[in-house]
Amino acid sequence: MSEQELMQKAIAMLDRAYIPYSHFPVGAALECEDGYIATGCNIENSSYGLTICAERTAAVKAVSEGHTRFRRIVIAGRSDDYCYPCGACRQVLYEFGPDMEVICLNKKGEAKKMNIKELLPCGFDSSWL
Ligand code: THU
Repeated sequence: MSEQELMQKAIAMLDRAYIPYSHFPVGAALECEDGYIATGCNIENSSYGLTICAERTAAVKAVSEGHTRFRRIVIAGRSDDYCYPCGACRQVLYEFGPDMEVICLNKKGEAKKMNIKELLPCGFDSSWL
């Protein structure tokens, strides 16, 4: 899939976000190394701590369907600045894509591209166990 198509999928997911509490939508589109695409949005809960981020929604969809090697993810938001993944999502993405690309979008659709290792230096992995 082209990068532009992946971006469009992430942006489209902004409308699926369940955000009655924060009103802060996040959309994600994850491409696996085998070409599988998983999308996600943030899903909030009245018990706030049970909220799941868009990136982890996409990650668990991919892994639970048997796609465990991540190539890249686009993360879309509607804020002025780029929508960066939270710390927990960085670690979850790193587990399945230790060299993956992370493409963060702002509300204009402008992109900032980073490698997961830039976002999560010294990430924890199975080699420590
Ligand atoms: N959120 C994400 O979906 N991804 C992130 O990486 C950062 C935060 C969501 C969680 C919550 O629904 C809202 O943004 C405000 O924190």
